[in-house]
Amino acid sequence: MKIIKAKDYKDMSRKAANIISAQVIMKPNCVLGLATGSTPIGTYQQLVEWYNKGDLDFSEVTSVNLDEYKGLTRDNDQSYYYFMNENLFKHVNINKERTHLPDGTQPDAAKACADYNNVIASVGGIDLQLLGLGHNGHIGFNEPSDSFELETHCVDLTESTIKANQRFFASYDDVPKQAYTMGIKTIMLAKKVLVVVSGEDKADIVKKAFFGPVTPQVPASILQLHSDAIVVADEAALSKI
Ligand code: F6R
Repeated sequence: MKIIKAKDYKDMSRKAANIISAQVIMKPNCVLGLATGSTPIGTYQQLVEWYNKGDLDFSEVTSVNLDEYKGLTRDNDQSYYYFMNENLFKHVNINKERTHLPDGTQPDAAKACADYNNVIASVGGIDLQLLGLGHNGHIGFNEPSDSFELETHCVDLTESTIKANQRFFASYDDVPKQAYTMGIKTIMLAKKVLVVVSGEDKADIVKKAFFGPVTPQVPASILQLHSDAIVVADEAALSKI
């Protein structure tokens, strides 16, 4: 595992965008595994800037996202589909037909998960998987548990996650209670994994996940066993190391 220290959020975003750019330049028809959340937003902004300068071409890129809320339609501004469109897809020349997320509108969880596993298999696996890091060590919606979930599965969101999300919705009842997420095995099978982390509030979990024992209680800790995992973290996130 390689840890790259960035000065601050902007520097982290530029360094991460450089790594993704290198991937797209080296293999224009690569498969990018993408993440939502606040951490990668600056990375996406940087990629868009370089695309606008003419330095990047996404026309042959395929993407598969980590996760999606169950029950939200694509036009819901809290869906991850909407997020990806707003933060990246609509600003670059990626072919929308080659962008994939779990289908949050599919009520049959077994079908939604099987379909998404098929999508990932059909694109030939992931060349580079971008990840954020949750405060409890979650990656995607793989929350701390007694075992690692292997493939795409349906997750019951914890009460604290539902409460934390409530601010984005009109009422508690509108907050999704479940999500579909890629599993740990799928993430581990990506050829390269790139984790972006920023802020002092992540310093404790950075220490636990990347310098502590490998355990499903800290899902991101499994990345220590990946043969090509890169963590780009800013000084604040690395302040407890
Ligand atoms: C996003 C995702 C989550 C986030 C994590 C960190 O698709 O699956 O695991 O990466 O919750 O979120 P932020 O970046 O908002 O701190």
